[in-house]
Amino acid sequence: MQEEYHKRALSKSIFNTISDAAEELSLDCYVIGGFVRDYLLQRGIPEDIDIVAVGSGIALAEKVASKLEGKPQVSVFKNFGTAMVKNQDIELEFVGARKESYNRNSRKPIVENGTLADDQKRRDFTINALALSLNKNDFGKLLDPFNGISDLKNQIIRTPLEPGITYSDDPLRMMRAIRFASQLGFKIESKSLAAISENKERLKIISNERIVDELHKILLSKKPSVGLALLHKTGLLPIILPELTALQGIEEVEGQKHKDNFWHTLEVVDNIAETTDNLWLRWAALLHDIGKAPTKKFHKKIGWTFHGHEFVGSKMVYKLFKRLHMPLNEKMKFVQKMVMMSSRPQILSEDFATDSAIRRLVFDAGDHVEDLMTLCEADITTKNQKKQRRYKNNFKVVRQKIKEVEERDHIRNFQPPVSGEEIMETFNLKPCREIGIIKEAIKEAILEGEIPNEYEASKAFMIKKGQELGLTLNG
Ligand code: CTP
Repeated sequence: MQEEYHKRALSKSIFNTISDAAEELSLDCYVIGGFVRDYLLQRGIPEDIDIVAVGSGIALAEKVASKLEGKPQVSVFKNFGTAMVKNQDIELEFVGARKESYNRNSRKPIVENGTLADDQKRRDFTINALALSLNKNDFGKLLDPFNGISDLKNQIIRTPLEPGITYSDDPLRMMRAIRFASQLGFKIESKSLAAISENKERLKIISNERIVDELHKILLSKKPSVGLALLHKTGLLPIILPELTALQGIEEVEGQKHKDNFWHTLEVVDNIAETTDNLWLRWAALLHDIGKAPTKKFHKKIGWTFHGHEFVGSKMVYKLFKRLHMPLNEKMKFVQKMVMMSSRPQILSEDFATDSAIRRLVFDAGDHVEDLMTLCEADITTKNQKKQRRYKNNFKVVRQKIKEVEERDHIRNFQPPVSGEEIMETFNLKPCREIGIIKEAIKEAILEGEIPNEYEASKAFMIKKGQELGLTLNG
């Protein structure tokens, strides 16, 4: 039964091709890693398949490529003894089985040939060390020397070797352990968790790009707080995102407390993960309160304040993205904008929101107004049911008003209905500051609802405004 099930993982014809190639080269080979893990977890078939050869992985890759339709190119990474072949949508990664030991100051392994068992032992987790044979004599046989199957069943992340060795060999694995725990909802074995805390400083030899890759995967998981709380617990978070750690804690002065903005943030991220898969909106949720640590103040009369935290927070977003070598492009600007505007809908919802306030919100948020509303709704974390219902309802009202104002006033991608050229022509002007003043006045009049967002009304307003400024009409 089990054997049939494992064999079915290898029903794609590519596995027979690899098996034939290995037989011709008289070497053994196995599928290993994420493909086997995800097949057994029924998580769908991954796009990359890792093959380990007991012998030369590069020679096997070349033989396989020569048998495939169109004879795809083989990309060889000689230093690592690996090779990659792309077959349709699938990337096949070939590696020779190795006994590895790592250089302490980099992730570059010192490679020595080894057996399958040597290779499995040097992998990160037991659930990633599962291998399926591609050999003719036992095709489909599962090789599981470290009880990866029972760890899969019991949902445990465990290292094949002493965890201290596995993590020290490649500190990226500390992030991977936490990422898998978050993605799969697995528990990290306690010995392993302790080893991560002990080795946390070694994360510093890992490139920011790889750390961010894992952070993205944590943020994209179903319940990102699982991974974020583990990063916090193990002490990795202050190394990667000290801005978040700084939000932790509740201070009390004269009997007045503020909420713990770190744990609040984690709840907000979980909330937003239920409504959107947009990675950058999830980042915005993660960073929406980071300005609160540097702006926190206590005032005798009003208690705790975080004045201007949205502005400070949006500036911090830039520094944080830069430090982590994240893109400083429109994605970063989007996150900054969300952080900057994160309190606006809330202020509106607490009071009666006038049409002009709604128009200003839509004008400032532009196409991101729905994302902003999604963020603000996720920001509701009160445990008081009555308040929660009230806040949610208030946001519903704001959303409805946005819809009405949008249908009527088309403010979202505001273009001035009267151009600068037309102002110049009307008053026979050369470029001067009056043009800017008139344009701004028209925009303000539209946003305030004094005139509709239309050409005729704007033109009449322009003439009135120009005359007020002492300009005379052309001709
Ligand atoms: N591996 C490892 N240590 C690492 C990275 C990878 O031991 N730091 C091993 C694991 O056996 C892993 C395999 O290499 O399963 C393939 O790695 P990779 O493709 O990066 O990850 P997957 O496990 O396939 O999972 P995912 O695609 O979700 O990253």
